Amino acid sequence: MAEESKVDQLRAAGPRQAATLVFRKAVYRKVEMGRWGAKAGDHVAPSRTVDLRTELLGPDAYDAVADTNPHLSDVDLDHFHRQDTICITVYDGERIASSSWMTRGEVWHHELQRHIAVPDDEHFSCRSYVDPDYRGRSLFSHMVYSYARSVPADDLIWGLVYEWNLASVLSLERIGWRHSGVESSTYLFGRQRAHSARTPERPPHQPPS
Ligand SMILES: CC(C)(COP(=O)(O)OP(=O)(O)OC[C@H]1O[C@@H](n2cnc3c(N)ncnc32)[C@H](O)[C@@H]1OP(=O)(O)O)[C@@H](O)C(=O)NCCC(=O)NCCS
Repeated sequence: MAEESKVDQLRAAGPRQAATLVFRKAVYRKVEMGRWGAKAGDHVAPSRTVDLRTELLGPDAYDAVADTNPHLSDVDLDHFHRQDTICITVYDGERIASSSWMTRGEVWHHELQRHIAVPDDEHFSCRSYVDPDYRGRSLFSHMVYSYARSVPADDLIWGLVYEWNLASVLSLERIGWRHSGVESSTYLFGRQRAHSARTPERPPHQPPS
């Protein structure tokens, strides 16, 4: 389906636009994500309180939670089983309202299509999802904050987020995460080059006045 639509796009494009599309697809492509994080002990409680049940779950619960998270693939689950992973889950009665994953080890990163090394005293946040019926209640902030309170204060909790994903960036900045670098994968003629850069901590977005 996706390939067909690319072909349709090419057919509809003028020669110049077609050249650009081919260049982006076959010659050069870059996936870049910002690095955000905070020490567990530096996390700040979200301003909204959440009156739903929150649980930190192990491998036995992965499949049930995964069925409620459209952003998770079987490949992710397979990696989670092989890595040291905890699933933070928020329940409304028996219904799963949201879930978020914390993992470490040699972590497979789906968007960057490569492994990232996450040491034992760090926790890598990924595949967070809030059911649309429950958005606007700071559940993402709540899940990460709840997890931060369960691990040693000096441990680093971090993740990679697209700059354009403002709901995620704000959710994390509100609880103390700061931007401190970028990770990217660049493809030139299909060949991947990994790039990591640490940058000085960036001030968070200001709440609307
Ligand atoms: C990102 C996500 C987890 C956040 O869900 P949530 O916890 O319900 O977040 P909220 O709706 O409470 O929003 C958090 C903040 O972002 C703001 N926000 C939400 N959507 C926004 C948008 N489209 N543009 C700008 N700001 C937005 C909210 O106003 C809120 O800010 P506040 O703290 O100042 O009130 C949810 O949108 C989601 O599941 N998205 C799809 C999957 C995804 O992107 N996962 C995260 C990958 S890192």
